[in-house]
Amino acid sequence: MGEKRILLKNVGVIDPGCIDDAIRAGGYEGLKKALKMEPAMVIGELTEAGLRGRGGAGFSTGMKQKFTSESCLKCPQRYVVVNADEGEPGTFKDRVIMEQDPHLYLEGTIIAAYAIQATKGFIYIRGEYHESIRKTEKAIKDARKKGFLGKNIMGSGFDFDVGIKLGAGSYLCGEELTMLESLEGKRGHPRIKPPFPAEKGVFGMPTLVNNVETLANLPRIIAHGKDWYRKLGTERSPGTKIFTISGQVAKPGYYELPMGVTLQELIDLAGGMRDGKAFKAALLGGAAGTFVDATMLSERMTYDNLREKGATLGSGAVIVMAEGDAVLDILHNCLRFFKHESCGKCVPCRVGTTQLVKKADQLRNGQPGKAALLKQMVREAEIMASTSLCPLGQSPVLPLESFARYFKEVK
Ligand SMILES: Cc1cc2nc3c(=O)[nH]c(=O)nc-3n(C[C@H](O)[C@H](O)[C@H](O)COP(=O)(O)O)c2cc1C
Ligand code: SF4
Repeated sequence: MGEKRILLKNVGVIDPGCIDDAIRAGGYEGLKKALKMEPAMVIGELTEAGLRGRGGAGFSTGMKQKFTSESCLKCPQRYVVVNADEGEPGTFKDRVIMEQDPHLYLEGTIIAAYAIQATKGFIYIRGEYHESIRKTEKAIKDARKKGFLGKNIMGSGFDFDVGIKLGAGSYLCGEELTMLESLEGKRGHPRIKPPFPAEKGVFGMPTLVNNVETLANLPRIIAHGKDWYRKLGTERSPGTKIFTISGQVAKPGYYELPMGVTLQELIDLAGGMRDGKAFKAALLGGAAGTFVDATMLSERMTYDNLREKGATLGSGAVIVMAEGDAVLDILHNCLRFFKHESCGKCVPCRVGTTQLVKKADQLRNGQPGKAALLKQMVREAEIMASTSLCPLGQSPVLPLESFARYFKEVK
């Protein structure tokens, strides 16, 4: 299977710093069309297109817009927040969009704002992404000059403007409710759900939080229609997905493919296994993802199919390991990552992540009784998942349980 670039079609083709180039390539056509539609029609089109959030959870984008637009009708303000924090290990898909075609996701953000009738927005960008920040700043400035942002956008009577807020290196601030705290200038600690951002988001107002890749789909869907979009991917996961593949493949990088591609097809596209090595394992979806072994190579990578098989699609990160690699080292890294990123607010996660790292150290030191220790770690991670305050404490069980399922022998 070859690449199918609908989001990345301008990469390497246009100058990302030139708005006229973007316009010549069809940029802002989706927005022009959306502004002629009723906001509810835009939401309807996106819902029927079947677009699901690319930030990891795969929730229906249209439904989220509907909830946000219908909640608190008396509230004086609604917001759109773009999640450009991209903190999941192994993931760099949003960076490609921001650096190579910033007008695409900016246009998607304006369409989303129009759909929910928000007049203000924030783009929360990972602070280390200097080039993404620079390109987005320029794109916003140029879009304002062209009348795509600001008052009375393209003569439609709709007003919307957006500002940039920089993250400061916290993985947890990529979690939507923590991000809202950070946007309000507070410490990056999570809020308790519910209320969801759609009801009570930033500054207590209804807020739509979407990932960069999710928003990049909007101009394409509106410009070409839901039927065109649904021809790509599968019935329950339409469209394409940008995968970022790294590790033991010959050509690591980013690849945009229709949803439903198999892991084997993705590896083949990435040049196959490096130096002809044999495949051993992959970590799908980053640290908050799952390990798979060779029995999963021919499974279709969609949200539902992978979930049914006990795996995750998540952000689309794929880290490939070969025979001879120590999968346990990768698990150990994931657990150290969670320990480092735990905000320490609640006991099960603060103590639990530390304990899991200690036990992973013991596993790596080759202590006797490995199988029992691993079983105990899974049990502890399950308890953490059911008692922690936010999704970070619910994450270590994912790599741990899948590791125990496939790699019990622990090498
Ligand atoms: C610990 C943690 C970190 C997250 N980091 C990101 C991130 O960097 N980027 C992102 O888009 N979503 C991230 N998410 C998911 C967001 O909370 C949220 O689901 C997403 O922004 C929703 O957008 P979507 O519907 O377009 O996928 C994270 C979630 C958790 C629990
Ligand atoms: S689960 Fe972890 S990251 Fe989340 S609030 Fe508790 S300590 Fe903080």
